[in-house]
Amino acid sequence: MCGIIGMVGEGAPEFVVRGLRTLEYRGYDSSGIAVAKGGVVFVQKGVGTIDRIVSEPPEGVAAIGHTRWATHGGVTEFNAHPHLDCSGKYAVVHNGIIENHTALRQELVGRGHVFTSETDSEVIVHLFEEGVARFGDYEKALNYVLSKIRGQYAFVILTADGAILAARNGAPLLVGRSENATFVASDPVPLLGVASEIYRLRDGSYAVVTRAGAHISGEAQRVPEISARRVELGGYAHYMEKEIFEQPRALRDTLDYLRREEISLELDGRVHLLAAGTSYHASLYGEYLLRRRGIDARAFVASEYGSWKGREPDYIIAVSQSGETEDVLSVLRNQEGPEVVAITNTPGSTIEEYANTVIYTRAGPEVGVAATKTYTTQLLVFAHLFSGERPDKLPELAGQVIESAKPLAERLADELARKNNAYFLGRGLDVVTAREGALKLKEISYIHAEAYPAGESKHGPISLVENGFPVFFTASPDTFDETLPNVHEMRARGAEVVLASSEPSELAEYWFSVPHVSEVIFPMLSVIPWQLVAYYTAVRRGLNPDRPRNLAKSVTVR
Ligand code: AGP
Repeated sequence: MCGIIGMVGEGAPEFVVRGLRTLEYRGYDSSGIAVAKGGVVFVQKGVGTIDRIVSEPPEGVAAIGHTRWATHGGVTEFNAHPHLDCSGKYAVVHNGIIENHTALRQELVGRGHVFTSETDSEVIVHLFEEGVARFGDYEKALNYVLSKIRGQYAFVILTADGAILAARNGAPLLVGRSENATFVASDPVPLLGVASEIYRLRDGSYAVVTRAGAHISGEAQRVPEISARRVELGGYAHYMEKEIFEQPRALRDTLDYLRREEISLELDGRVHLLAAGTSYHASLYGEYLLRRRGIDARAFVASEYGSWKGREPDYIIAVSQSGETEDVLSVLRNQEGPEVVAITNTPGSTIEEYANTVIYTRAGPEVGVAATKTYTTQLLVFAHLFSGERPDKLPELAGQVIESAKPLAERLADELARKNNAYFLGRGLDVVTAREGALKLKEISYIHAEAYPAGESKHGPISLVENGFPVFFTASPDTFDETLPNVHEMRARGAEVVLASSEPSELAEYWFSVPHVSEVIFPMLSVIPWQLVAYYTAVRRGLNPDRPRNLAKSVTVR
């Protein structure tokens, strides 16, 4: 998704360029900065990384920057942000979608404005130019813009005399303060270690920032302290590697939080779980545990929830590590009846605005695009809430699995890197782990991987299997015996079998040993080998696991 950075104060241009680099993990295709100096706005922008666009940032006391993930308008230099108004005195960067941009553009062109891009975003800065001309005041001009535009947005305007105006409705935007500077950003990561206070603007609020300081209109929530240390790479090759290895600590912190705060949920009614991607897999795990307790629960891919024709639930459990996934938020925005419980890893994120109850995973900031530690801690939250088990040894066991699986995953990756397809199979709750393993492999190594219930593979999918075809089996102690016949079927057709289980099988070329634990705990451990296999395979393919193509860390558009 797009990233926004801004600053008023000494060193603003350099900070913006550095900040855009820290947002690169969010995925983008073009970038640019605008700098205010001596009553003029200088813009450098184009297709590609910020380092390719901005070799030497111009001096200035106020600057804004943007990394763009194209929605409206192709990937071109003209469509890259920032966009200038006709006078060249104002520049805008924008995340989200201005839904009525076509009509606004026609009106503005009719009043003589000349557009230089195909984007919806450009209407903002032309409206602002009109507002300043009409009211002679930046804040009034900003309110003029807000009265005209419709949609989900976070935007920041830079003025030639060094002021910044930031407004949000439905897309994240933060304001940070330090002793002698003020910052705006769409993500807390660039502010860590520089801003002593960070505030998350609420929908409908805005900030006006000048050298004299920041004035926030509307609601803003103080974001709890996140130490910059937690976001450093700390000697690992990639954030994804670090975050896989951090799981014992993340699980320990989450378990301590759940117990310290005595987190519990009594759900006496119908429950729908909503999520996307990896969080959807966690929701399937939650659905299983709820049903095991006799509760009428059903997990939905959030983007499909609109087509649900059944009865309305009494509760919605929305799972989103970022708390900013538009597919989830757009459902919650239109919910009146159900009690909403949010499970998120990001305090102060937008999902909190729509939840009656918020439960946190304590995984710490997850920078790698592929979810790893946020997934296992999501499972832990569900296990704590709905299983009645007390997984005290889980963090230690996770550390053991990481240590034993790492060398094997590295060896397997050498071979897997040359393959183009794979299956992930399992039975019962192990199907969820199979689905997560397939998603991890395909999203960062670009190997096509599909997950199926093991018993289903003979009803079609097995036709693809030939000599050397990699098939990954997840088999907990509860499903191991029932899964073995499927392993035989695959081996008989030449498949290369990779097994994650508590007991070995001579049918497997590679066996990842997982401790003999309950069906509830097993998924939090058996996913780790698949995380490591995906990570090392991507590296062997010469890819950057932290920045997989076409993907973003949080998908804030529909
Ligand atoms: C998972 O590795 C992907 N990054 C993606 O599927 C992600 O899980 C999905 O976009 C949901 O994100 P969220 O948890 O922040 O809502």
